[in-house]
Amino acid sequence: MQEQISSLKDGISADVHAASDLDGLEAIRVAALGKKGSVSGLMKSLGGMSPDERKVMGPALNSLKGEVADLIAARKSVLEDAALDARLAGERLDVSLPASPHANGSVHPISQVMDEISEIFASLGFDVAEGPDIENDFHNFTALNIPEEHPARQDHDTFYLQANEQGERKVLRTHTSPVQIRTMMSKEPPIRIIAPGRTYRSDSDATHTPMFHQVEGLVIDKDTHLGHLKGTLEAFLKAFFEVDAVTLRLRPSYFPFTEPSMEVDVQCSFEGGMVKIGDGNDWLEILGSGMVNTKVLEACNLDPTVYQGFAFGCGIDRLAMLKYGMNDLRAFFDADLRWLRHYGFRALDLPTLAGGLSR
Ligand code: DAH
Repeated sequence: MQEQISSLKDGISADVHAASDLDGLEAIRVAALGKKGSVSGLMKSLGGMSPDERKVMGPALNSLKGEVADLIAARKSVLEDAALDARLAGERLDVSLPASPHANGSVHPISQVMDEISEIFASLGFDVAEGPDIENDFHNFTALNIPEEHPARQDHDTFYLQANEQGERKVLRTHTSPVQIRTMMSKEPPIRIIAPGRTYRSDSDATHTPMFHQVEGLVIDKDTHLGHLKGTLEAFLKAFFEVDAVTLRLRPSYFPFTEPSMEVDVQCSFEGGMVKIGDGNDWLEILGSGMVNTKVLEACNLDPTVYQGFAFGCGIDRLAMLKYGMNDLRAFFDADLRWLRHYGFRALDLPTLAGGLSR
């Protein structure tokens, strides 16, 4: 019997060492220690032995069982390490290789234009601020000096959500101006931010979609004046349209949240159906702006005898259409692959002022 044990042990040990993968090792374990395995078979034979025999063979078989289990566990950890090494070697990635220039998919013109705008304003020292698409009445209207019953509310074709338990009806923000309020209420001046994002109005034709994009600008400091506004807009439009100079026309206008308010036109020409920004005989209305109304500063707990500033709001979709020559806004949101491939931008070309915004 002792001999049987030692030759069984030698046999199993040789098999274990020869096992080259985890599946093979598992088969050896089952053949030895499984219910019908060779070691288990010997253990069962203890029942038929005399008490004296059992005294000797019991410990011997138990230690055989333990040694076989140890052998298998040791081999298992070697094989597992080897399997991991093999996997790591197989998944090896040379991160110093250049990325594929043929990335599938492209950057949507809206994202591209938002990146370009952010890049330009970052170079002027502006931060990018964000606010929620679902706004409350206070931020979207009241704090912007558009109280209830104000006629300007009618201009906004607002999407209202169903009233909550408190009877409050939230809105899909109709402009990015509420981000002005959120910024002034949470940050100390000096403030220099832009806020690009989605906006919503119940309107739809070739130049209006229910969801569209705006970028808001806000500067608040102690002696910010209209000259700063004009200079900022000139720097922005010049960089955005990638021209040497732009001529702006500031037309008196009305917005509840600015006083004085003006609409800004940029000089341009329409030749052969193409808009050329920079010079020419025509004017293109491009954004709304003004000096922040003292009522708005007060609503944000800023002292209007200490602080003043300017704001502007601009349609991003329109900027994209002008710069990249699309004429139907609705196509922006049709998700037509042919359109996206044609008008999309290469994902790896980030717009920078140094490298060129649109190249
Ligand atoms: N919120 C205005 C709109 O959606 C745009 C606007 C005009 C924003 C003048 C401004 C501003 O910040 O000063 O029509």
